[in-house]
Amino acid sequence: MTSYRWNTIDAAAGYDQAATHIHPHYVEIQDVILAALPFERDDVFTVVDAGGGSGRLVERILDSFPQARGLVVDQSEAFLRLAEDRLGRFGSRAVCQCVRLQDDWPARLNEDEVHAIVSMSAIHHLDADEKLACYGCAFQSLATDGIFINGDEVRLCDDDAYLSALRDWARHMQQVIGAGLVPEPMHETIKGWIHRNIDGFGQPKSSGDDCHQTVDVQQQYLRQCGFTSVEVLWAKNLWSVFCGRKQVREGSS
Ligand SMILES: C[S@@+](CC[C@H](N)C(=O)[O-])C[C@H]1O[C@@H](n2cnc3c(N)ncnc32)[C@H](O)[C@@H]1O
Repeated sequence: MTSYRWNTIDAAAGYDQAATHIHPHYVEIQDVILAALPFERDDVFTVVDAGGGSGRLVERILDSFPQARGLVVDQSEAFLRLAEDRLGRFGSRAVCQCVRLQDDWPARLNEDEVHAIVSMSAIHHLDADEKLACYGCAFQSLATDGIFINGDEVRLCDDDAYLSALRDWARHMQQVIGAGLVPEPMHETIKGWIHRNIDGFGQPKSSGDDCHQTVDVQQQYLRQCGFTSVEVLWAKNLWSVFCGRKQVREGSS
């Protein structure tokens, strides 16, 4: 996996530095995820960030909930090194695990109970079958009443609207590059994104690409895996935050 574009120090450090410029709704999506966590400030709970990168979301969660524990699960050593630095101040409340979301990541959690699984801008790198399997792993890992929340890039149903949203984001990324807000090594990464998603619009995607799927399809996947109360919490352009709960079904006790 070293050739995967997220596995170089430059890509990880570049994204970490510039995420709030590159992603037009980075902080807003984190805000929605934080607000959807069904906990009081002093509750004791464990949250996993699937594809949690450099640990920015877990950092905000651990700052907001001083008794919580957070696990960052990611396939990139380079991102996890940044996460370990960022989260070091939380001591044993923060743990990082290097594992692919296609593999048996629940086995790596070593937790008695996981109460929430969050994810941001990561699961869209999985192809359709991998996403479904990953949502199944999330369901399997959660304690009863646990919540899964994903804030991610999604496909729009209408091809023209989807292409136009992709173009809008490309324009935004070119503007922030032009304004000097993105470290140089990320420029090629962004050019690659534009080439794959806009020049190659409609071409088949494979695992590791931006395998955007509609929010409707992904909500269906969540239900198929056993999640209930599946809903969209927020949506804008290419992005959506959606969630599901692991509830005990009536009569299944
Ligand atoms: C755009 S970054 C987002 C990082 C972080 N979630 C954030 O919002 O700042 C994408 C992250 O997904 C991770 N990722 C991509 N494919 C993955 C996979 N198959 N398994 C685990 N992590 C993956 C990358 O290593 C990277 O850390």
